[in-house]
Amino acid sequence: MRDQLPADDPLRDELAVFIRQEAAHTRLHRAYNQALYHAGYDRLPGIEQDLAAEYRGFLDHKSLRWNAGYAQGFEVLGPLYAEFIFEHVDDLLDGADAQVADLWRWHLAEEYEHRMVAHQSYYRMGGSYLHRLWITWTTLRHLGRFNARAERHMLKADAQKLTPQQRRASRKRTRQVHRRLGWFLLRKVLPVLLPGYTPAHLPMPAGARRLLERMDGMDLA
Ligand SMILES: [Fe+2]
Ligand SMILES: [Fe+2]
Repeated sequence: MRDQLPADDPLRDELAVFIRQEAAHTRLHRAYNQALYHAGYDRLPGIEQDLAAEYRGFLDHKSLRWNAGYAQGFEVLGPLYAEFIFEHVDDLLDGADAQVADLWRWHLAEEYEHRMVAHQSYYRMGGSYLHRLWITWTTLRHLGRFNARAERHMLKADAQKLTPQQRRASRKRTRQVHRRLGWFLLRKVLPVLLPGYTPAHLPMPAGARRLLERMDGMDLA
């Protein structure tokens, strides 16, 4: 996609940063996923392989505009989840593994940072309003299906190690997370449906700025 842009287009450099950031996300999430396999979530590799196969199919058989639209739809979630994790779930993360919580905070802070790149790239590749609505819906449904599979498997694996009382508490907590995220996304997704939507003006969560300043210059290799 970068090669199709004029040599002096600033989006070329922004795409290069986007790719670097996503490559770093992938590297650290792969290490995290390895830890999850070792912890007994043995169906996760199969779910990842199915998703990777579908992505290969998208790259082989769908147009560049379609793939840019999928990336744009995926990236719609970045700044929204950044706000959610920094401003709406501190109570739920109380007692969570600090490394895992920080992995997600760092990832989502960078998602906020590069929120414009996929949006602009999609329009450069011939995107339009109605197509954006359709491809965003298609993308979110596709991601939602894989997310639900992984969540079902992980909760089921967890449930095997819990007492009946803990299992009830786990189910209650899961419902609470779904409800909170559902209401949050319902409010936040409405502006995405408007013709003039752009992620440009979404406010940066204060916690995201602090975290990125703290991490500035750190080597994540
Ligand atoms: Fe990412
Ligand atoms: Fe991203």
